[in-house]
Amino acid sequence: MRVIDIHNHFFPESWPDLAARYGTPDWPWIKHTEAGKADIMVGDRFFRHIYSACWDPEVRLQEMDRDGVDLQVISATPALFAYDRPVEHALDCARLFNDAALELCSRGKGRLKSFCQVPLQDTDAACKELTRCMQSGHLGVQIGNHIGCKNLDDPGVITFLHHCANEGAAVLVHPWEMLGRDRMPKYMMPWTVGMPAETQLSVVALILSGAFDRLPSTLRICFAHGGGSFAFLLGRLENAWHHHPVARGECEHPPSHYLNRIYVDSAVFDQRTLQFLVGAIGAGRVMLGSDYPFPLGEERVGSLIRQSNLLQDTKARLLSGNAEGFLRIKTESSEGADRSEPATAASPPVPEPGRLTYSSYLKVPELLELQQPQSSPLHHDELLFILVHQTYELWFKELLHDLDAVVANLQKAGAAPHSHDEVYEAARLLRRCTEITRVLVEQFTILETMLPTHFLAFRGMLEPASGFQSEQFREIEFLCGLKDEKMLRYHRPTPEAYASLKRRLEEPSLRDVFFGALQAMGNLVPPGANVSEKEQFDARAQAVHELYKDEHHHRDWIDVCERLTEFDELIVSWRLRHIQLVERVIGIRMGTGGSTGASYLKLTLDKKFFPELWEARTLLTE
Ligand code: HEM
Repeated sequence: MRVIDIHNHFFPESWPDLAARYGTPDWPWIKHTEAGKADIMVGDRFFRHIYSACWDPEVRLQEMDRDGVDLQVISATPALFAYDRPVEHALDCARLFNDAALELCSRGKGRLKSFCQVPLQDTDAACKELTRCMQSGHLGVQIGNHIGCKNLDDPGVITFLHHCANEGAAVLVHPWEMLGRDRMPKYMMPWTVGMPAETQLSVVALILSGAFDRLPSTLRICFAHGGGSFAFLLGRLENAWHHHPVARGECEHPPSHYLNRIYVDSAVFDQRTLQFLVGAIGAGRVMLGSDYPFPLGEERVGSLIRQSNLLQDTKARLLSGNAEGFLRIKTESSEGADRSEPATAASPPVPEPGRLTYSSYLKVPELLELQQPQSSPLHHDELLFILVHQTYELWFKELLHDLDAVVANLQKAGAAPHSHDEVYEAARLLRRCTEITRVLVEQFTILETMLPTHFLAFRGMLEPASGFQSEQFREIEFLCGLKDEKMLRYHRPTPEAYASLKRRLEEPSLRDVFFGALQAMGNLVPPGANVSEKEQFDARAQAVHELYKDEHHHRDWIDVCERLTEFDELIVSWRLRHIQLVERVIGIRMGTGGSTGASYLKLTLDKKFFPELWEARTLLTE
């Protein structure tokens, strides 16, 4: 597995005395203390201990070998940005260190590449230096996350970012000059508290200012240290965006819409955080970044990702695949394939980074990250168990989507009894529901390839999770008309699920809407006062009976009736196949949800969504 580290730093072994060169104090300088060790000083002030990996490619390459890193993209240090200095000094300083970076890379046996720095306080000068650097071999640029009081949504910075996109330069945003320093004089808090907040501020400024609506999607921009506190607080930002107009800013979409415009590195130092980051930002958007060889860097570069529980494919993306796209560098396997080759049938065009792709549209990396087995070491069949259930839930989602549309069409049909379009549309969508359910009945056979002993090996870890808690299954039942308030109790632990089921209980069901439409058409007399449930049921069955008796006039409604009946029938088939699976796998054991298992489930076989449609068949005569 190739490994690319996109966030690490260097210092040259020596550089001119900048204070003397520019005639101003407090520039960084290097004080060699003993062989292979040095201190970075800023004026008279100690800034940081460093060692020879910063300047000696031999040491660097040895440590890269030790850690299994193939390629590093080195950057200078924010302390050298000099955004608050006269532009000619900042430009000269940038040139010195940009050329020093290339010199170090030239001794790196092809395993060191670099990001340049630019005098960002002056847009023209920054753009020119970037162009010069890209022409001389840098892969992109490291910028600070603000210029004094100006955030990244400053018009000058936006112009510069446009220029980066045009030049094909990757951008690494590094926090610096941390906010609230007066309140954080101790314990490295500017690094541990200030830096994450700075980075979050930058991402939020870019999003809310609408910058991503204007910047080309080809811009590749990465935020250091996992994007700071951004991912963790995205929910808060999103909530504010939806509920408080003043918090909306100028962006066209909610903040989460722009996640596919940013990358973050993996410098978060905690497995749970890495896992969360991959879930929140996306497996295609996190890249190995180590902060090597600084004291706060990852000690064994790449170990956080390697030791994680992420899938192999995801690890490969984080360790190198995503960086290859971000940096636009060729992979070993694609070495022979030239992106500029004309497209032929055998070699379709290679999509430009940042453009919509199959994976980014379908969120494939995120989808493949959603299987989180409980068994450790992983029991081979647990992945299948999770995937089959997830597939069911995805189809349940589509069923609800279609059934809601059936309800809407039947409501319209009731409101306009002479229009047939809505009735046809309802029948068409119901046909889709029956086809989906047919697949769902069949799918149980895949789970039956799992031996009962294999399931029992990890079943205990799943308690007290149970199919009783499938919110969508219960929603389908409630939506179709099979409403049982008692079932709500299984959803108490999840308030959102509880609330949406409660809403389904209160809303008119498909069954209600169907008979409402028959009433509107005059085929069913509305129930008067004191009419018993039984009498109402009989009247509804009779109304269906009348439809069937006059096939010539009611062909469209009969089609709806047939589809509803078929759907009902297939749901019973689903229940039956589920019971067979349950008996095959756990026999007559109790369920993890506390029911008596198969014997409880058998009681559900008599449940019907549309009993009047079945009753009408009994009423029909030859
Ligand atoms: C090894 C495979 C399976 C076993 C052993 C199993 C077992 C059970 C048991 C015993 C129950 C009764 C409730 C309880 O006490 O927990 C139940 C309910 C349920 N299961 Fe499964 N199940 C399996 C697979 C599936 C699959 C693949 C789905 C797909 C979504 C599913 C969906 C449901 C649903 C929706 C219920 C509630 C049914 C109702 O209340 O009518 N189950 N399951």
